[in-house]
This record gives sequence, structure tokens and C-alpha cells, in this order.
Amino acid sequence: MNTEKLTTADIRRGAEIIRAGGLLALPTETVYGLGADGLNPEAVRQIFLAKGRPQNNPLILHIPDAGWLERYCYDIPAAAYTLAAAFWPGPLTMILKARDCVPRVTTGGLDTVGMRCPQHPATRAVIQTAGVPISAPSANTSGRPSCTTAQDVWEDMNGKIQGIMDGGPCAVGVESTILDLTVDPPCLLRPGGLPLEEIEAVLGVSVPIDRAVTAQMKPGERPRAPGMAYRHYAPQAPVTVVEGEPALAAAYIRRRCGEHTGVICFDEFADLFSGLEVQRLGGVADKDTQARRVFDALRYFDSTDVTEIFAQCPDPSGLGLAIGNRIKKAAGFHTITISGERDMKLIGITGPTGAGKTTALRELTALGAEIIDADAVYHELLSSSRELNSALKARFPSAYRGETLDRKALGNIVFHDESALADLDGIILRYVNAETDRRIEAARESGLPGVGIDAINLIGSGIDERCDATVAIVAPDELRVSRIMARDGISEEYARSRINAQKPCSFYAAHCGFVLENDGDEAAFAQQARELFTALLK
Ligand code: TXA
Ligand code: MG
Repeated sequence: MNTEKLTTADIRRGAEIIRAGGLLALPTETVYGLGADGLNPEAVRQIFLAKGRPQNNPLILHIPDAGWLERYCYDIPAAAYTLAAAFWPGPLTMILKARDCVPRVTTGGLDTVGMRCPQHPATRAVIQTAGVPISAPSANTSGRPSCTTAQDVWEDMNGKIQGIMDGGPCAVGVESTILDLTVDPPCLLRPGGLPLEEIEAVLGVSVPIDRAVTAQMKPGERPRAPGMAYRHYAPQAPVTVVEGEPALAAAYIRRRCGEHTGVICFDEFADLFSGLEVQRLGGVADKDTQARRVFDALRYFDSTDVTEIFAQCPDPSGLGLAIGNRIKKAAGFHTITISGERDMKLIGITGPTGAGKTTALRELTALGAEIIDADAVYHELLSSSRELNSALKARFPSAYRGETLDRKALGNIVFHDESALADLDGIILRYVNAETDRRIEAARESGLPGVGIDAINLIGSGIDERCDATVAIVAPDELRVSRIMARDGISEEYARSRINAQKPCSFYAAHCGFVLENDGDEAAFAQQARELFTALLK
């Protein structure tokens, strides 16, 4: 199909496409809509096909003024007219009882219908001229971010619809606020371009917020706006939202960034991320700009090679509720909150090899904690710390070739000499503990919720006494044997000798405050770890 490009001067042509049962993308003040004659079931069906949208997800009917409400709705409460007088044309959709003339394919089978009077004059003129209400979802392919320019629509819909009317970039940038007026008091089903506070001020009541706005729906749980159940607006790379005081959140993201990290941040912090793929959301206090930018920012990353995305998110007042909802939906509600209260939790994690420490630590990281790996600290210090090297050289001069440590030679010395081994452990512990302390304090300064110290020698190291909690990760020996063999590609015999060289699980379990036992069910173990760490970080 050849998709026509229309301008806002082509009102007649636009109305013709609608009357003929075709699909026309139209500008509104919120996002572009994919319009069809809302009373023509066949035309409406084409919308679902072009978007790839599930049939049970209802469409909004767009009308030119509140005078059209009676034609399609009944039992209209006075509040609807009060709201229309205050906010229409504008970014408010009202759910009302639908008359029989509204096809049930438009309402997704419901007996209610969403009614909206958009602000863009060209679109209202097309509706007037066509003489029918226009049903229009956002013009994106289902699951993609909504389109805020005609170019975005072109990318998603070229060849699939009759026309696209270019009305310039959308002024608001997030979709309309959806309010259910079939209940009393009315209920907010989707935050959007009209802030909740303004609705409450006009109605003089407080408006409850449907749970789907702020939390991930559980399997089988149904939000009252069916569309809120879907994983919308999701870039291909997984998104993590970082909330909290903006400067602390930005600093946290900075610490977590790798080479292929993408960042959505407030303008004030963009300099922290130079060299990375960054999308600026707007200034911290500039929610109007953030609303206009949010979908573009999310769309951008699919054209890059980023493998993860961290996003800042505004506080929920005013437009912040809608902006935050769109970002959090993109993240599947995966959110980390940085507390500015410096009440960071220190969690010591220990246990023998092969029990599942890596899995557990991944869960702790996902909750926003930073991991300090004692072994990695030791190796970093070996290559960077003059003090550690001179202490080692003073005690083990024959293990040094000039300024560099010959680790094999050192190994041979301590392997046969227990007091040499104790000296070595003492030196390492002193420097590793000092560096670990430094990192713990840096994490505390930046307001992290927690730090996990990963150390096989945690017990008796001195660090364990400073921890708010200690956790032993253990697993049956047979399971560890097979895990180590698979992980390191070694023989059973070698795996067993490695296990025998370490302290048994019972040692770790006896000395830690908490025990996480891995029985081989990876998903269940991860879940158990996440629950324990969530509780320990509180
Ligand atoms: O700003 C907007 O509202 C844009 C522009 C184009 O007007 N439209 C839009 O439509 O965002 P759409 O289809 O992407 O989102 C409509 C949402 C969906 O979540 C849908 O489930 C919900 O409104 N909805 C529609 N009719 C409903 C009804 N009768 N009851 C409950 N929810 C309804
Ligand atoms: Mg949509």
C-alpha cells in the first residue's frame, strides 16, 4: 500500500480517507493517533491489524466537542461535563457507559467507551468534516513507544495505512490521562498529559489510582484499562530505573556503567556520562520537556548497540506520575531506589566454591547494592599498590623479580610453610581490609542502599564483625561437584579435590547469621536470594 503524506491543509482528503473506511494517522497534542471511523467495525478491525494489537484492548473515541457525548454514551455523570468544561479540548480521556451504536470491536467487547476531545485543530477539523467519531489508538506498532512526530509514525506504519497527516511534533508528548467515570469517586486508570492534581482540584475529591499505574501486574491480574497490562514502550535492551535524589541517582548510575551501557538522565548530569550513549530527559524541574522527550529517549536505544539501560525518573507530582509510569513500564517496573539517608546496609557473603554465590550476588546487585569482591581487590592491589608490594617484598624477598611479584614462587614458599602462609594471609588481610573500608565509605557517601562483601575468608577477617548481616551460600557437595565441572570444564576428580581443599559448607553455615541453600533449582534459588536480600536491605 502506498502511504500518502498529508499536511494540516488536507482536511478534506483526510476526512475522505476516514469516510471510505481507511486508516489515517493524525496529530494530537499528546501523541499521534491511528484513526479510523469508530462506527465502522471493518475499518476498526484494520487498526488492530496494522498495529498488531490484541483485539480485547479497547480504542478511544475522539470527538470534536462535549456536545457529541450524548450520541455515544448514556448515564453521563455531571462530573463528566464539569471536567469537559475545564479541560477539553485537552489530554483527558473519560470512560463512560457506551450506547449500542458504538461497535463492540471499538470497545474491545466492553460496555464502556473511552471518550476524548483532542486539542490539535487539524484533527478536530477532520472529525467534523468526516461527521463520525474517530477511534484512534497511539500510532505506534503494538509494544513500541508511542509516536510523537510524523516521522516516527512513518517508521512504524509506512505501507500499512492510507495516510499520515503531519501536524508537527506533539506538544505534550505522553498520552492522555484516563479517568474512569463509571465509578464514584472516579478512578485514575492511566496517568497522562493532564496532571491528577488538576483533576482533583476541579472535582474537589481525591482520586484513587489503579494499581497497574505503579506496579507490575501479576500473571492473571487484570488492570481496569486493559492496555495497561501490556509491556509497552520497551526498548530491546533491559531498562533499570534509578530513583532517589537526582544527584545521588546519577552518581549511582555512573558507578554501574560499562562500555555498552545506555543512560537516560536529567540534563544536569549528562556530563557524567560522556563517551556513552546518553539521552537527556530535560532539566530536573522541567517536566514539560521530560514528557516530550521520554518516548524519543526510549526509542533511541534500539538504533545503538547498548546491552543495558539505566534511567533517571522524576518525582511523581504533576506530569511526573505519567513520565515515571512510562519509564517504569519500559523497565518492567525494575526499579532501584537510592536512599539519601546514609543508612546503607553492609552484607557479608561467603561460602565455598560451586554453591551458587554468583547467582545470589546477581540478585543483590539487581536490588541496587554494590559488590566488593575481596579476591578482586587483592589482585587489583597487587598490580597497583606500592605499599602492599613493599610489605610482601620485605617478608618474601625471594618471591620478587625486581619490583614484580612472581606469584608461582610465592605459592611455592607458603605451600610448604604454615607460618609463612599465616604471615601472607595477615599482610593481605590488612591491605584488603583497608581498601574494602575505603570502598564501603565511598558507597555510603553516594547513598547506595547496600554493599555486599564477597569473601571466601569473610569469617574471622574482621570485616564480618562490621556487617549488618552475614550470609552463607551452601549446596550439597554432589551438586557442587557437577556445577564446578560444568562451570570450569574440569574432571570430576579435580572438582572433588578442589572441594576437599576448602572448608565444608557446615563451617560457613555455623558462622553466618543467614544461610541460603541451593538445591539445584536455579530459578527458585535466585528467588530465595532476592527475598532474603530484599529483607536485609530494609
Ligand atoms: O493520548 C491518547 O490517549 C492517545 C491519542 C492518540 O489520543 N491515544 C492512546 O490510545 O493512547 P491507546 O489505544 O494507545 O491507549 C488507550 C488506552 C488503552 O490502555 C486502553 O486499554 C484504554 O485506553 N481504554 C480504552 N477504552 C477503555 C475502556 N472502555 N475501559 C478501560 N480502558 C480503556
Ligand atoms: Mg498506546
